[in-house]
Amino acid sequence: MNLSGKFISFEGIDGCGKSTQAKILSTELTACGNKVLLTREPGGSEGAEEIRNLLLTGNPDRWSAETEILLFTAARRDHLERTILPALQSGTTVICDRFADSTRVYQGVTRGDLRDLVDQLDDAMIPRQPDITFLIDLDPNIGLSRALERSNTEARFEEFGLEMQIKLREGFLNLANEFPKRFMVVDGNRSEAEVSQTISKLLHETG
Ligand code: ADP
Ligand code: TYD
Repeated sequence: MNLSGKFISFEGIDGCGKSTQAKILSTELTACGNKVLLTREPGGSEGAEEIRNLLLTGNPDRWSAETEILLFTAARRDHLERTILPALQSGTTVICDRFADSTRVYQGVTRGDLRDLVDQLDDAMIPRQPDITFLIDLDPNIGLSRALERSNTEARFEEFGLEMQIKLREGFLNLANEFPKRFMVVDGNRSEAEVSQTISKLLHETG
């Protein structure tokens, strides 16, 4: 499997296991001799990490829905320019914990129907989409309880409750149908080891 210069993203609701699986895959691919960059959104570059703080801490009501989309897109643009594109160009495999699909789903679902605006900004500003997107699909009840167990200052998007997690899950599954070529849906309601074995297998199968 030649993963040189490939861009892999992980998506799914809060607590579905993205960070865990992204880390496991990064370790596995590195052990196989690949150059790997593990990164995350919002964040992943100095400027984007600063924007992450603006988005995830402080009073969330100080941003309108539109401003929030602009901030996520600005962070992504910086992350691409400074971190992701240079790594891909040097043949590194980039594994990213969340990318543009999170904006399509979160800002589309939680802030009214702003998908068109998200898409317009994405078309104008985000010149690269992932080659492969693993969607870890999890029962929203489990995702919510896992996410709430982690007490941190960045809980604002996790405070939306079960109804919202159900909508977000649906939003991600709809995206997987919309982009079937790059999306791979993985059942996250299993042990970490089982989920990671499935991800490795799917990656091998894509060649
Ligand atoms: P995300 O990045 O999607 O929010 P994490 O990978 O941080 O999710 O996982 C959230 C929590 O659930 C962590 O405490 C992690 O150890 C745990 N976890 C992750 N995957 C599994 C799994 N398959 N089964 C049980 N617990 C898990
Ligand atoms: P993250 O740190 O990945 O949270 P988690 O580990 O719980 O999945 O992301 C922080 C929050 O930001 C998360 O609740 C989802 C939200 N988010 C958006 O609303 N839009 C976006 O474009 C991105 C990348 C994240």
